[in-house]
Amino acid sequence: MLRLLVYLLGAMATALPAAAANKTHLNPTVPGWHSDPSCIFVPEWDDTFFCATSTFLVTPAMPIHASKDLVNWRLASHALNRQTQWPHYNTTGQNDGIFAVTLRFHEGVFYAITFFVSDGSNPLPSPGLLFRTTDPFDNAAWSDPVLFQPPNIDPDLFWDDDGVPYMTAAESIISTIDLETGALGPATQLWNGTGERNPEGPHIYKKDGWYYLLIAEGGTEVNHTVTMARSRNVTGTYIGFEGNPVLTNKHTDEYFQTVGHADIFHDAAGNWWVSALATRSGPEWINYPMGREMVITPATWAEGEFPVISPVRGNESAWALPVSKDVKGTGPIYGTPDVFDFAPGSAIPSNLLFWRWPDVNSFTVSAPGHPNTLRIRPSPDISSGIDPISLIARLQTDTLFEFSMDVDFTPTDLNEEAGATVFLTQVQHLDLGIVMLSDSGKGHATRQLRLRTDGGGNLGTAPPPPVIHSIPTSWRGPITLTIRANNDTHYTFSAGPQGGSAHDDVVLGSLPATIVSGGTGPFTGALVGAYATANNGTGTTPAYISRWRYTGIAQQIDNNTFVPSW
Ligand SMILES: *[C@@H]1O[C@H](CO)[C@@H](O)[C@H](O)[C@H]1NC(C)=O
Ligand SMILES: *[C@@H]1O[C@H](CO)[C@@H](O)[C@H](O)[C@H]1NC(C)=O
Ligand SMILES: *[C@@H]1O[C@H](CO)[C@@H](O)[C@H](O)[C@H]1NC(C)=O
Ligand SMILES: *[C@@H]1O[C@H](CO)[C@@H](O)[C@H](O)[C@H]1NC(C)=O
Ligand SMILES: *[C@@H]1O[C@H](CO)[C@@H](O)[C@H](O)[C@H]1NC(C)=O
Ligand SMILES: *[C@@H]1O[C@H](CO)[C@@H](O)[C@H](O)[C@H]1NC(C)=O
Ligand SMILES: *[C@@H]1O[C@H](CO)[C@@H](O)[C@H](O)[C@H]1NC(C)=O
Ligand SMILES: *[C@@H]1O[C@H](CO)[C@@H](O)[C@H](O)[C@H]1NC(C)=O
Ligand SMILES: *[C@@H]1O[C@H](CO)[C@@H](O)[C@H](O)[C@H]1NC(C)=O
Repeated sequence: MLRLLVYLLGAMATALPAAAANKTHLNPTVPGWHSDPSCIFVPEWDDTFFCATSTFLVTPAMPIHASKDLVNWRLASHALNRQTQWPHYNTTGQNDGIFAVTLRFHEGVFYAITFFVSDGSNPLPSPGLLFRTTDPFDNAAWSDPVLFQPPNIDPDLFWDDDGVPYMTAAESIISTIDLETGALGPATQLWNGTGERNPEGPHIYKKDGWYYLLIAEGGTEVNHTVTMARSRNVTGTYIGFEGNPVLTNKHTDEYFQTVGHADIFHDAAGNWWVSALATRSGPEWINYPMGREMVITPATWAEGEFPVISPVRGNESAWALPVSKDVKGTGPIYGTPDVFDFAPGSAIPSNLLFWRWPDVNSFTVSAPGHPNTLRIRPSPDISSGIDPISLIARLQTDTLFEFSMDVDFTPTDLNEEAGATVFLTQVQHLDLGIVMLSDSGKGHATRQLRLRTDGGGNLGTAPPPPVIHSIPTSWRGPITLTIRANNDTHYTFSAGPQGGSAHDDVVLGSLPATIVSGGTGPFTGALVGAYATANNGTGTTPAYISRWRYTGIAQQIDNNTFVPSW
């Protein structure tokens, strides 16, 4: 009898995976800079997966990504979408702002909890921020934050069976939290991890009578790992898993590196999934303009055991994905090319981002007399900490892509400039500008094309000097500026008359993507977009941008393996 039972259980165990044949999926599931993902599966919202990612100084901040199948994603909302929700800090450090977010759903309410890092010039300590909503597809429905004072970054939220909410910060410091006031109870440190540096990004789960603590260790660079411990009691004692780490690509020659900062969730079929960040860099970890991107990988989590997590790869065989159904909402579907014409009455597209908060008067769709354009008024500079800066951009989401826009710009003052940029931080960007420069020899200033770098990142040598090219007199009207990533290491910058043929184009040059990798932006990833600056001069001439186009061409998913963009 016992033998029969054992046989039947064994047969069931082997029969289960066969019932739903495995499929392959590709990583990064959300390409482009989407760091520190935290994900949940919400049956109450039509079996939808929701993930939040960190945004540092980019606004609108804290995007909520939604999917029905973990393959096709839509921007649902930004939890932090109004300047009034931002702490009253004028932080200008390039790695400050909104750190890792934990997204949770409890009794009908979505919670997004995070930590705001300021540059130390502010009188008050950096606060924790707790946002909530009952509609994750509506920006306006997200609350103003409840402020609290966590002992460290990366707050997690966990409700015990008795309904008591706990906040756990980096170094696994737990306390109860009053969700209305932000008041924290006494703190207890749960676990130091396995001894690697930066034990951070904690999440607590309860399963089979155990409290599981999952953390990141080793720093968010190539030694990033995921480790776990468990306890019978929420406040401890936690005992580390002897099989740690549960997930890492450290000390491997994989193309996907820095795998860590994970979260675990299951789908409607009960199959487990892990979200994490990863960097497409290979073990050299030098060329990675898109920074830390969001990956998913399958896991098995047997009763009473620690989960077994598949290593992160670009092409993975895994549980059959949930049946694909279009996720609701009106935000952009990821992978859709940008085709923005800024028609009168239209809003600024919701995937376009700013560096800190913009002056709203600097960006106007179809200003009077200029239909089908985006008017950008210049900021004094785009390279210093003076707010606001006139930059509007989208994420580089593809290894290979083409970005172009038409720029109508007739500067009058010396050094006035408008153009297209690949931008990692305020002090690390590649700019193709139309700029007013003095024309030595002719004794007056003229409009010229200039390709210029700011910063050096991981380049390792001195950045190339600026390239200046006169604008052919035959070019009348707007100028088309184009940035192409033809391979994974370089961007090529060119300009031509609007509506001209490739024959008319002037190629200013190619610049290495290592300049927008690492350096002052170890936590962020490249943006591509438009800017206008007076270069510290007195100019105020606006630029009129039209025909904004971004098309993803290919993703690199392994050494020498490129696949069409998704
Ligand atoms: C930020 O604010 C502080 C005081 O609130 C001020 O001293 C400092 O100059 C400000 N920094 C910038 C860059 O505006
Ligand atoms: C973590 O390490 C610190 C410093 O060694 C120690 O004081 C603390 O008790 C440790 N915490 C735990 C939970 O073991
Ligand atoms: C990763 O760990 C190795 C030791 O295993 C160390 O030499 C190296 O500096 C670490 N790298 C980073 C980026 O932390
Ligand atoms: C769990 O922790 C609480 C608070 O520290 C303590 O009162 C209780 O005795 C603990 N229970 C167990 C089973 O360790
Ligand atoms: C991928 O290429 C890099 C060199 O760019 C090499 O170091 C690494 O070993 C390769 N990995 C594999 C899995 O072939
Ligand atoms: C992913 O791997 C599977 C199985 O090895 C293979 O059939 C498929 O072609 C691969 N997909 C891509 C895009 O490389
Ligand atoms: C299907 O994928 C899961 C998750 O990676 C794995 O545990 C299982 O072994 C796979 N099954 C087959 C038949 O490959
Ligand atoms: C990548 O493109 C740049 C610019 O066109 C070129 O100089 C470089 O040789 C290319 N790299 C490879 C590996 O083809
Ligand atoms: C503008 O001035 C600021 C402050 O002095 C400086 O940091 C920045 O580099 C200047 N920008 C340019 C383009 O020269």
